[in-house]
Amino acid sequence: MSELILTSAPAHLRHGSNIGQPLTRRDGILKVTGQATYAADNHPPGMLFAVIATASIARGRVVSLDVAAAKRHPGVVDVMTPEHKPPLAIDPEIKTNPFVFRMEVLQSNDIRYANQAIAVVIAETLEAATEGAALLAPAYEVQPALVGFDAGESFAPPVVGVGNPTESHRGDVEAGLAAADKQIDATYETPPQYHNAMEPHAIVARWEGDKLFLDTPSQAMVMARGRVAELFGLAPEKIHIRSPFLGGGFGSKGFLTGPQILGVMAAKLVGKPVKLVLRREQMYGPVGHRAPTRQRLRLGTDGEGRLTALDHRARTVSSTFDDFYEPAADASHTLYAAPAIRTSHDAVRVNTGTPLFMRAPGEATGSIALESAIDEMASACGMDPLAFRLKNYAEVEPMTGRPFSSKALRACYEQGAARFGWAKRPLQPRQMRDDAGLLVGWGMGTATFPALMFQAEARAAIRRDGSGVMEIGAHDMGQGAWTALAQIAADSVGLDIDRLDFKSGTSDLPDAGIAGGSAHTATAGAAIHSAGAAVIAKLADLATSDERSPLFGAGNAGVIAREGRLIRRDDESRSESYAEILARAGVAEIEARGTGAPNPAAMEQYAMHAHGAVFAEVKVDPELGQVRLTRMVGAFAAGRIVNPRMVQSQLFGGMIWGLSFALHEEAITDRRSGRIMNANLGEYHIPVNADVPPLDVITVEEHDPHVNALGIKGVGEIGITGSAGAVANAVWHATGVRVRRFPIRIEELLVPS
Ligand code: MOS
Repeated sequence: MSELILTSAPAHLRHGSNIGQPLTRRDGILKVTGQATYAADNHPPGMLFAVIATASIARGRVVSLDVAAAKRHPGVVDVMTPEHKPPLAIDPEIKTNPFVFRMEVLQSNDIRYANQAIAVVIAETLEAATEGAALLAPAYEVQPALVGFDAGESFAPPVVGVGNPTESHRGDVEAGLAAADKQIDATYETPPQYHNAMEPHAIVARWEGDKLFLDTPSQAMVMARGRVAELFGLAPEKIHIRSPFLGGGFGSKGFLTGPQILGVMAAKLVGKPVKLVLRREQMYGPVGHRAPTRQRLRLGTDGEGRLTALDHRARTVSSTFDDFYEPAADASHTLYAAPAIRTSHDAVRVNTGTPLFMRAPGEATGSIALESAIDEMASACGMDPLAFRLKNYAEVEPMTGRPFSSKALRACYEQGAARFGWAKRPLQPRQMRDDAGLLVGWGMGTATFPALMFQAEARAAIRRDGSGVMEIGAHDMGQGAWTALAQIAADSVGLDIDRLDFKSGTSDLPDAGIAGGSAHTATAGAAIHSAGAAVIAKLADLATSDERSPLFGAGNAGVIAREGRLIRRDDESRSESYAEILARAGVAEIEARGTGAPNPAAMEQYAMHAHGAVFAEVKVDPELGQVRLTRMVGAFAAGRIVNPRMVQSQLFGGMIWGLSFALHEEAITDRRSGRIMNANLGEYHIPVNADVPPLDVITVEEHDPHVNALGIKGVGEIGITGSAGAVANAVWHATGVRVRRFPIRIEELLVPS
């Protein structure tokens, strides 16, 4: 496939053949044959089952529990309550940094949201634990629940997202609006969404003296280990977390949650291994969700359709006891070249579990509003939406004035539009019908997501037999880390992928950082790449300094690592295998470590983002209001594509989530009780196969020398951004009805034709 060009790599690494290959998942057979071991598949001897009893009110307190009735139930071993539980080493309410989330681990009888844990029943069977939990018959003192954007006074949160400022501005927005030829002032609402990974949060906890063994899905095992160490007063080395496979996470497994800690406490209480798995409805509360938003956008344009100002204000909610604020308005920092931009956030506290990162946090919610507003403005200017976006194309990052490290968005627009056939789009809405009389509409959206880097470490080794080892505690949520990272690893040590033992998925391995922010392949990949380069450099030293080697005197930069051999650059007939080099040196294994980290100098100089353009076609039944997506093309530029097959699959996933955002997903809160009324996969709608037409993904070539050593920008989240707006804009184009509350509902499209 593509030639490997490593911008900052030693010359001997420029000949990889694995990166860029569309390999199938290396763990695929294990998964489809049921041999992949997920957390809840672990059954250590003597294991008991724990079931959480949850609050059926959203605010108030538990005044009684019939613990005796539960304990009398055959098979029930113990009932953990605020009055009967093992002590923790620290208060779970203490927040030492923004990445520590408060959790409910039975520290009191107060109820802060529906589905909060109020007790844990531990029994010999799952059935007995479930029945025991049902016998607890809690009595409550109920207070009225705070629900919705108008539940209380709003306030400006201290920070949004991972520490972004609550307000940002550049230029004078009010002056820009006042001077504008045309203005748009529109308010959009997005609903709460829940992560709904196929695999619910689960834990199997086993204490062995002061050692603790945990099987639990995690997007950040070493961070999770640190949190457990803190809570239980253990040295981190005493804790061993395994998380080889996750059935999805979407952000909800980035941090350990209360229920997982309850599993550890239960095992401690009964002195036996314990398994605790959340039921689907129990995931609607304690494990995070995407907060709802209400976003007001004001845009101004001059007589030629150039933006004069962009004002984006987002209101969101958080819980009554912790802080996470969806950074929705920040989506307007990056895309359009308005001379004046202001973004701001306010928030309201409601009786909900604390919201959290959920795939493209901020960008997804902000993007559907921004892309809708841009579409509205294009229409107000009488311009084609693509022409309008090109007119306002940002050559530098609008909010900061920094140049982009790379930006192939123009190519995304061109290639996506050509593949879709966008040029034939009528300007006015409600112009197209198919043979069956359905209204047809075409819409587009721009996609963007930051190219982030976190911290990671890896260890590489070459063994006496010439095979390689790469160790990194990376996380595969289903995105394909076992494959993509192994590809990077194989190239980094110049080996065929089958000659490399790629070890991953436990906290005992070097810290791969968090699998989040679409940065795992880039971050863990950079660590792997540098560990591989370091071990090959050591091997080259061994050979080139030994006069018995055909490589003697070649110098470190004068060899290439390829197919298990070091080869002289100036004379490829002179080479030596890794096994020969190690045998002669009498070394069983040679190893080195490497790290991946952000580059602050480059980050200061450049704005780093992936981009894309999404084009959607919908058909709407004019009598029934039913909307179907019939085509979608997404063209994305995200730097180096490590594995085209898996990248395509990530982008498909994101585009489907965009469809879901526009037309399907919504958690509905009962305004009287504060409970989620559709906490199940039957009524919380996500697209099924029948909802998803064939999708078309184009990956646009892009070389970025600044983002990281491998030029990877990440593809996990960008697919949602752009796609949601494209679908919404297509619905407007089909019907002429602009819906500003998502998901778009049938009843809003039932207008007389
Ligand atoms: Mo993601 S929300 O960074 O797992």
